[in-house]
Amino acid sequence: MPNPRQLLDDLHRRQAQAEQGGGAARIAQQHTKGKLTARERLDLLLDEGSFVELDRFVTHRSTDFGLAEQQILGDGVVTGYGRIDGRLVYVFSQDFTVFGGSLSETFAEKICKIMDLALRNGAPVIGLNDSGGARIQEGVASLGGYADIFLRNTLASGVVPQISAVLGPCAGGAVYSPAITDFIFMVRGVSYMFVTGPNVVKTVTHEEVTFEALGGADVHGETSGIAHSVFDSEAECLSAIRDLVGFLPSNNVDDPPLHTTSDPEDRRDEALLDVIPDSAITPYDMHTVIKSVVDEGRFHEIHVAFAGNILVGFARLGGKPVGIIANQPAVLAGVLDINASVKAARFIRFCDAFNIPLITFVDVPGFLPGTAQEHGGIIRHGAKLLYAYCEATVPKLTVITRKAYGGAYDVMSSKHIRGDVNLAWPSAEIAVMGPKGAVEILFKDEIASAKDPAAEMQRRIDEYTRTFANPYKAAARGFIDDVIDPRDTRPRLIDALRMLRTKRDKNPAKKHGSIPL
Ligand code: HXC
Repeated sequence: MPNPRQLLDDLHRRQAQAEQGGGAARIAQQHTKGKLTARERLDLLLDEGSFVELDRFVTHRSTDFGLAEQQILGDGVVTGYGRIDGRLVYVFSQDFTVFGGSLSETFAEKICKIMDLALRNGAPVIGLNDSGGARIQEGVASLGGYADIFLRNTLASGVVPQISAVLGPCAGGAVYSPAITDFIFMVRGVSYMFVTGPNVVKTVTHEEVTFEALGGADVHGETSGIAHSVFDSEAECLSAIRDLVGFLPSNNVDDPPLHTTSDPEDRRDEALLDVIPDSAITPYDMHTVIKSVVDEGRFHEIHVAFAGNILVGFARLGGKPVGIIANQPAVLAGVLDINASVKAARFIRFCDAFNIPLITFVDVPGFLPGTAQEHGGIIRHGAKLLYAYCEATVPKLTVITRKAYGGAYDVMSSKHIRGDVNLAWPSAEIAVMGPKGAVEILFKDEIASAKDPAAEMQRRIDEYTRTFANPYKAAARGFIDDVIDPRDTRPRLIDALRMLRTKRDKNPAKKHGSIPL
């Protein structure tokens, strides 16, 4: 029997070997590309010293193509658990220095193991992706491994939060694991995601396109909306994931974590009196309203560069995390279009799955007209937003700051679709449409036959504005619970959240709904 100290020396040697991944030369290559290693990333992501590694001695079982001689401890993925602000999270970090981070059968088994633990123990899964895809030498065994992960991503959806950072290549079918997760974060110049790469694109469509232009971070952050957030560095990206986790409960039966705040709950803001411009068609930035109302003005915005006509993100009110959805009058007048509908619907469903109350700020002129929108399916996509609001059973608070016109009034968390507390500022205009459009339809003949058509039009617009372009018709029916002084928005929302703390609401029993996907 060897001396226990010798056994420990052997253990330490093996541990050190596992930590080296693909070896010093490949680590240097990784750094030359401006990328961190799998372990350096975990160091930045997790609380210092909290990472506990599992399966560091796992090796692949392949023998084809000379793989039997190439055994690397850990087999290209670092897995385990750790803490973010003291809260448990499960993690995997793909190691590009080992076979290009390519996924083998055993690599997949390691990821599945921590996903199973996360599901059983109710804690988020954070995946750091940096991989050449399926390990080509393993063939279908690797493909099977991917499918095992996809299944777990799907089963975990809505049970524990799943967050993906793409910090290198993520191509082919491999994209579908991050795609099923709740959030994808990318880094400029480092990350790319595509189903088929530039070479295949060239063969099939004859398009010449670079990796960056096909599937780089900005393309997915601005155009496809695949990336929820985009950063200039890995350090910023990993820090933002830590921040995001701070808003989320560990699982779907926990409440989101409470924070202490020094921001007084009864804080009023004089500046809110001056937010709404004199003219109903002048834009303003809804960020001003959100930041004025939430704790310490902190808004963790998601999808910043995608569908800017609607804003979504997390904040806190009285220390309690909330999901914010807000029309943005400063972009396309805050109109609802396909991308805005899909962006907000996804966010609402995430919040509802994880017990995060929804706060909706409304200033919406309606749905965007045009053949591009109609042919692109605004009916189906707009229905997703409506469906998401209708099915949500978390506390739903709504503040109409200015316009709430037409179908968009119904959609944006109205009373009729189970809004719990619906407030309006005195500047709110709740009507089927704006004054000009309405009088053009209602009084077409009278205006045309008037001695002075322009004056008649203005007279009719003024009359309509007095009668309908205000919150009081809706308030008279109880569709608005109260018309409030804008300065009181924060205290009123915090108070309503407290009133709704014990809210219980359920949808009819069903296997699942059939959302118009
Ligand atoms: C095995 C791989 C690999 C893979 C890379 N490597 N990808 N080994 N299987 N899929 C190895 C390389 O051979 C190389 O080993 C090392 O990793 C580093 O790769 P490089 O090519 O030197 O790095 P770089 O120049 O940065 O290029 C990265 C890359 C390129 C763009 C990702 O490696 C690449 O195109 N790889 C193949 C991508 C691919 O087609 N994968 C399959 C996609 S289909 P050595 O020892 O030479 O240094 C797929 C299906 C998933 O993934 C299906 C799920 C349902």
